[in-house]
Amino acid sequence: MNSAAPSLYEPINRYKPLGPDIGVVDGPFEYLTTASIRLPLPFTTRMTVVRLRNGDLFLHSPIAYDGALAGELASMGRVRHLVSPNQFHYAHIGEWSRAFPNALTWASPGVRRRARARGIDVQFKRDLGTSAPEEWRDDIDQTTIPGGIFGEIVFFHKRSRTLMLTDTIINLELDKLTQPWRFATRMTGMHYPRGQIFFGMRLPMLLQRRKARAAVRTIFAWQPERITLAHGRCFESNGGETLRRVFAWAL
Ligand SMILES: [Fe+2]
Repeated sequence: MNSAAPSLYEPINRYKPLGPDIGVVDGPFEYLTTASIRLPLPFTTRMTVVRLRNGDLFLHSPIAYDGALAGELASMGRVRHLVSPNQFHYAHIGEWSRAFPNALTWASPGVRRRARARGIDVQFKRDLGTSAPEEWRDDIDQTTIPGGIFGEIVFFHKRSRTLMLTDTIINLELDKLTQPWRFATRMTGMHYPRGQIFFGMRLPMLLQRRKARAAVRTIFAWQPERITLAHGRCFESNGGETLRRVFAWAL
């Protein structure tokens, strides 16, 4: 590997099965932008895909639209739910909904306002809440982690015992980053193999201790085995151990 360049989770834009009716798709680099300026900080993103028992596909935090990927997913089921789990993960939902106009687009709290403010073309049809809607309740449970603007709806695929997180835990692989980001990431502690809660969520969770505790208890009660993440390496097993390490302080 060329350590002078950041690296992706190759191959990208392909469905990678993790278990029964669940898999991930790694995407191309994304870049942070602030005030419409793209910062020179490439980071990787990943979406998790669940096939519900009725054949509908649930796309958690869709990555950039790709025609070949869309074809692959369409061969697996009906692309039906396009889910924004927090107000930072929504930018590609519009692209997917134009390709799949019958798909339902699901808004996280605050995401509509954020998309409007940034001129992102996306129409949300439904709103996510703290409990799972009937569309996926049989297969997937959910709850809300309070985190101020970083608050996130987290999901649990029952059959595969997979917890789907977006930014709540970050587990970046340092050798996939270039300086100065590698150094900065090391300082935050949010890196493989002991990824950590996203630092922006810690204070808001402390300030909303009761809600945070309820959410963490719900997550523990699910007894997740696997944890998928939008950034960095997923936790393939021993989910309970990771959750105790990351969230024990919130109980
Ligand atoms: Fe993110």
